[in-house]
Amino acid sequence: MYYGGDYNPEQWDEVVWLDDVRLMREAGVTMTTLGVFAWSRIQPDEHTFDFEWLDKIIDLLHENGIGVDLATATASPPPWAAKKYPGILPEDENGSTYWPGSRQAYSPSSPDYRRLAARLVTAIADRYHSHPAVVLWHVNNEYGCHLAYDYSDNAARHFRLWLQRRYGDIDTLNRAWGTAFWSQLYGSFDEIVPPRKSPYSVNPGGVLDFRRFSSDTLLELFVMERDIIKAAGASQPVTTNFMGPFQPLDYWAWADEVDIVSDDNYFEPNDPFSFRAAAFTRDLMRSLKPRTPWLLMEQATNVVSFRPTNAPKAPGQMEALSMQAVGRGADGILFFQWRQSRRGSEKFFSAMVPHAGLETRTWREVKSLGQTLSSLPAFPPKTTDDGEMGSGARVALVFEWANWWAISQPDHPVRLDWLALVQRWYSALHRQNIAVDFVHTGSDLSAYALVIVPHLYLLTDDGADALKEFVNGGGRLLVTPFTDIVDAEDAFRDGGFQVGLRSILGVCVEEFGALVPPPVRTSQDSAGAAVSTTISADEPGQRAAMIDAPFGVVRGEYVAEEIRVLDEQVVIDARYADGRTAGMPALTSRVSGRGVAHYLASVPDDAGMRAITRWLADLAGVQAVFEVASEWVEVARRGDVLTLINHGTDDVSLDVAGADFVTGEAVSGVVLGQYGWRMVRV
Ligand code: GLA
Repeated sequence: MYYGGDYNPEQWDEVVWLDDVRLMREAGVTMTTLGVFAWSRIQPDEHTFDFEWLDKIIDLLHENGIGVDLATATASPPPWAAKKYPGILPEDENGSTYWPGSRQAYSPSSPDYRRLAARLVTAIADRYHSHPAVVLWHVNNEYGCHLAYDYSDNAARHFRLWLQRRYGDIDTLNRAWGTAFWSQLYGSFDEIVPPRKSPYSVNPGGVLDFRRFSSDTLLELFVMERDIIKAAGASQPVTTNFMGPFQPLDYWAWADEVDIVSDDNYFEPNDPFSFRAAAFTRDLMRSLKPRTPWLLMEQATNVVSFRPTNAPKAPGQMEALSMQAVGRGADGILFFQWRQSRRGSEKFFSAMVPHAGLETRTWREVKSLGQTLSSLPAFPPKTTDDGEMGSGARVALVFEWANWWAISQPDHPVRLDWLALVQRWYSALHRQNIAVDFVHTGSDLSAYALVIVPHLYLLTDDGADALKEFVNGGGRLLVTPFTDIVDAEDAFRDGGFQVGLRSILGVCVEEFGALVPPPVRTSQDSAGAAVSTTISADEPGQRAAMIDAPFGVVRGEYVAEEIRVLDEQVVIDARYADGRTAGMPALTSRVSGRGVAHYLASVPDDAGMRAITRWLADLAGVQAVFEVASEWVEVARRGDVLTLINHGTDDVSLDVAGADFVTGEAVSGVVLGQYGWRMVRV
């Protein structure tokens, strides 16, 4: 179990370093991330490398038994680099340059950036690959943060090469993008520019490919650095820190390239429900690399400084959320940063050693967490009963970046905030403590009883085949509105909608039936469920479509799709109760092979999502990890260890029996106060 944080000794006099390592030992720190933003310190000019200070601090950490997650420092080129090679600077869609003076001002496609970065990484890897302090390599930092899309000339050249590799010839690209529309036919690849500022909607096929290209391009940088590190003889694992559900990067592809997934997570402490969003992120990180524990690479000990208002964490909140990460598969808890900066943009950002000193709650909590983590036994190896992930999840949610990119484009029947919707589907399950894995359609789905496909507008041919195979093999599938509309090129298939899944669903959509978007949710009930303001479905400008379902009346939002039933094997489970679509089917099921495929034609509100997921879980024979009456209590499984956490203000008693994971003592019932947690081996 790693414990520690980003350490920036270059900001401090050496005398402070001695204090740092002493305090690190006191706090139980086992690993620090070193050198993330130290490029200008390591290489003060193009021809000079200064490793003396880095040698000294790495040795000092090593002498004190503290491991190093050594960064490659390539996230922020020094000012001399931009002065000498102005082409390394990226540009926005208006052609404006992002100048040095902050951080991360580099064009990922710039050959000069790549050459300089490769040289730096080679020097670092050659020097430290066998240093015994180095336990992990930290490539760059938060790829894509602040700047994921570069529209510069370097990017344009690189984009064209990427397109040439993808399509081979320009006619194929023209067909894929549908450039016959609006006179966009290209004569050659040279005519293509990134989707820069244009008078109106830019070609959606082109925008989708630019998103693919941008994720791939940053990944090329990661792979370049990783390969340099490995070629130098390093045997330590290599990671780069992800940022949860970060739209620009397809983390499925990235997860294949990193040895360990690591994640940075800064939840809003003022939001009493942020523990659900945090759980969502933890489960996504765990799912990205099955069978491999991940690291919480950065979180804040207390306040952050990047929001307009930066509230402190409540006492105990940091520990509760840290244990949530461990319970959901993390093998390390780290912070940004070790010592609070005295100067610079993030000087108000909390740290393990606060500027306010050691007589602080933050420092006490940091020490206490270090102690707690060091007392945890190793997690038991995963058994086959736990599934590949050890979470025991029998429910999977499909999460695909290409769909996120495509569904977020304009000119659709209705604007759907896809991430928010997926998070709501997840929350519906999380509120019931039903374990969830995230998958993509290429994942092995055989371990799951229930797969939910949330609004998968873009469904590839292979994806459709995989979902059909899952159902025919005995799985239960829920297909939600606005799924299976376009192929990988963002084009309609021949024959209407749901062409990919039609054979198992037995239905297809005739009209999407957009509804007036639901009102912004401002209130929540005591259990954390959002409360929507009910507006009659009959009003002009219909907001909702009520659905009469076997599990109660459900309020449908965003769309009330008109679906056509295609064969008599389709069972209509629910119909619209009112409005334009009154009496029409709203939820169907159809047996296909050994399984069942459901189609849902409207987006339920939170209560409706809870009801339908409960209904489906029962039908699929899926049980909660642990049944708890209070929705403030979350329970996660990791192997045979349950982590129970109370995020609510009232004490809760839980009827759990087993052995305390830390002490081994018998447990028969636990009482948890606010932010109380317990790990129990069952
Ligand atoms: C990111 C970066 C850190 C720091 C924190 C806090 O996670 O990786 O360097 O800037 O944010 O804002």
